[in-house]
Amino acid sequence: MKKPIVLGNWKANKTLEEAQRWIEVYKQVANIVTKTTVVLCPGFIHLSLFNAAKLGIDLGVQDISQFSSGAYTGETCAGMIKDLARYALIGHSERRINLGETDRIVVDKVKQALENTITPVVCVSELTQAEFLVREVPGFSETGIWLYEPLDAISTGPVGKPQDPKLANEFASCLKVIAEDAQIIYGGSVSADNVSMYLSESGLSGIGVGGASLDPHQFASLVLAAEKY
Ligand code: PGA
Repeated sequence: MKKPIVLGNWKANKTLEEAQRWIEVYKQVANIVTKTTVVLCPGFIHLSLFNAAKLGIDLGVQDISQFSSGAYTGETCAGMIKDLARYALIGHSERRINLGETDRIVVDKVKQALENTITPVVCVSELTQAEFLVREVPGFSETGIWLYEPLDAISTGPVGKPQDPKLANEFASCLKVIAEDAQIIYGGSVSADNVSMYLSESGLSGIGVGGASLDPHQFASLVLAAEKY
């Protein structure tokens, strides 16, 4: 496997002060991480704090606008972000469900990210979502990352149970049929207890974590687990 990816998604959590405390704790492990690509997607408001902290973590945002710039009140466009973050999560199921984000909007956001040299990390729970993206952006897998997150697996969802790693690997194999070079990471209730099982699956290039990324000790333990692969 290439360098495994551990991607944390803070969702709508943490004040600046809480973020600063997280940074202080994470600093203790930061300098021993060499073999893992660590990407953290905190809130927009936290990006400058993280950039100043120099933790050796790549930064991502949890969303970007589908528009390039202009009269779109409240939007944060890729061009505004590109100096602050290298990755953008796009199409998380919480946005698809709560904010009506469609496959078309996801495609527009991916194009914005790519035009601004931001690596898109597209969340999918079904193959049809991936098929649409591959049709519209055929070269997606050359730079983009797929984050496979089955809806039932997300810890804060109604079911909240991690998916069997073998099933996640099967999904990855199917995805590779339509997107040959796909780099696929799995997300959904990943914890210190199950992380090795996902990292051991040949079709998976890493993990995405929501809840466990909020605690710097837990996040660090997942990163240290990934260092062994
Ligand atoms: P979880 O969240 O790790 O808390 O299940 C994953 C996600 O929604 O990205």
